[in-house]
Amino acid sequence: MRIIAGTARGTRLAAVPKGVRPTSDRVRESVFNSLGQFFSGDVLDLYAGTGSLGIEALSRGSQRAVFVEKDRRALAAIRENLRRAKVVDRAEVVAGDVGRVLHRMLTDGRQFNLIFADPPYRIAATEVGGVLSRLGALLAPGGRIVIESGEALAEGTIGKKGATRRYGGTYVTILERSETTMIVAVCPGSFDPVTAGHLDIIRRASKIFDHVVIAVGANLRKKPVLPAVERARLIEKVTAEIENVSIELMEGLLVDFARDQGAQVIVKGLRAVSDFESEFEQAQLNRTMYPELETVFIMASAEHSFLSSSAVREIASFGGDVRGLVPDGILETVREIYSGSDGNI
Ligand code: PNS
Repeated sequence: MRIIAGTARGTRLAAVPKGVRPTSDRVRESVFNSLGQFFSGDVLDLYAGTGSLGIEALSRGSQRAVFVEKDRRALAAIRENLRRAKVVDRAEVVAGDVGRVLHRMLTDGRQFNLIFADPPYRIAATEVGGVLSRLGALLAPGGRIVIESGEALAEGTIGKKGATRRYGGTYVTILERSETTMIVAVCPGSFDPVTAGHLDIIRRASKIFDHVVIAVGANLRKKPVLPAVERARLIEKVTAEIENVSIELMEGLLVDFARDQGAQVIVKGLRAVSDFESEFEQAQLNRTMYPELETVFIMASAEHSFLSSSAVREIASFGGDVRGLVPDGILETVREIYSGSDGNI
């Protein structure tokens, strides 16, 4: 494998370590042809493997490159290749998990002009979506993201446009910033348990936003009956058929969580006047901490305007019927769990 063009043209790259899947010459050549003269500013090479994509970009004029990889042998190959291409001083090699590194970069407000994401095929379906939703936030205006994947990306994983080309078993998608800027909304709550009202809000939010992350958090003013993992499991069960919804546990501040998820919006349900004061206070405080994050309220449907998790807990703890108050799929589980509790209202 050699660098195709630029200052390091012809440089022979180190042998590919076992277990690392290199981008074939054919794919690399075609990716770089499609990118044309697109080489200035900073490059981020995720799941860098041998670093061939980032190094090719450096050779063609990109100023600096950050390589992220967790495999030890691959890291050694990247360092060797940087030496061979004589670009060591323009490169940063980060050893670690892509998810964690992205979290740090988002917090630091880093921006890149070109991002390569070439995840190992076996994690493509699950991890790609989670990672991609954050890449738009790291992309500088006018930048491009190049995604290599072993399978066609699911509809809705990223923007709907983005040109995808297939080379044998490899799919390459090149996206502009406008095509990656999914509107990601975080829908936070303690969900103890998730109610029919919550589900209604989640469904309606999923129609407005590209992706909704349900954040199962802790309200310090309430002590939950169910552990967070169990509350998340119930939500998973009732939202399984909504494609653009994912569920995460949230520790710490909502604004930090939203930043980490690359979210631009907090979405909450609003019932009667009584909700308003506390929601208004939270929205203002969150806005003080993270002004770019907007809070959007969806009005509860009339039939849910009286419904709350605490009412469900109270009714269930006295053996009352919570049918219609919680989604049918978890009716029995909620009855069992909360009938034994003291309701903790
Ligand atoms: O369903 P709830 O109990 O009304 O949910 C409240 C929750 C979890 C959304 C809220 O307490 C929260 O955002 N907690 C995270 C901690 C935080 O960011 N607090 C500052 C907001 S004022």
